[in-house]
Amino acid sequence: MSISDWQQKYNSAKPLVVLTAYDAQFSQLISAAKIDGILVGDSLRHTFFGDSTTVTMTMDHMIYHTEAVVNGAPNDFVIADMPFMSYSISIEETLRHATDLIQAGATAIKCEVRECHIPTIERLIQEGFQVMAHIGLQPQYIHESGGYSVKGSSQDEQAKLLTLAKNLSDIGVFSVVLEKVPINVSKTITDSISCPTIGIGAGPYCSGQILVTNDLLGLTPNFNPKFVKKYCNGWDQFASAIESFKNDVTAKRFPTSDHGYNE
Ligand code: KIV
Repeated sequence: MSISDWQQKYNSAKPLVVLTAYDAQFSQLISAAKIDGILVGDSLRHTFFGDSTTVTMTMDHMIYHTEAVVNGAPNDFVIADMPFMSYSISIEETLRHATDLIQAGATAIKCEVRECHIPTIERLIQEGFQVMAHIGLQPQYIHESGGYSVKGSSQDEQAKLLTLAKNLSDIGVFSVVLEKVPINVSKTITDSISCPTIGIGAGPYCSGQILVTNDLLGLTPNFNPKFVKKYCNGWDQFASAIESFKNDVTAKRFPTSDHGYNE
């Protein structure tokens, strides 16, 4: 899938579907469902690494996981997250980091964009990078915003979000992720900009939706925000399989001769 396929799907008014993956096994699984994009999200610091924040993500780790995801889904539209501060220090460094992710196999990059990043994002686009912007709740700036609460509750915040989304659409980002934004605000933004919005905790009126795959599979039992729908209880199912293996081995039910080799 390419950017033009993405644009065509957007124009057809069919919601875009994006999911996260951090390794080849999951990207292969997701690829079989033929969705519109796979995000190598820095949320992997939570789900894969067990960290409480995404601020600790490094370029080396993003490159490593992007390569793995692309190995599992070589023909998919893979978007790789630019880690915290990797697009803030200088334009040279930003271009180098974006290049590293594209050379790792990503089709596009995603940045948690604030007003101060606009010139950098514009330069990335001029250089030919496909950029997805992420606004609303921005986990990379959690130390500043002080928590994971809804963004855009006050009129002032709503106006700032709308202006930022419009500016980003005008400079040519190919989509805007809206995280944890009130439903009416995400609708206004979606209706006001020319590129698709991809919502997570932003209600039904976005042009598309993304969830963290581990959440929808029920692999994160201690993470139960309102915006996540769990489509299966992966944690309990996996835990029960592991318990069964342990019980079989200790009771000498596994392996049997069926699982062994004769000369
Ligand atoms: O890192 C991530 O997985 C994300 C999505 C939740 C949008 O940024």
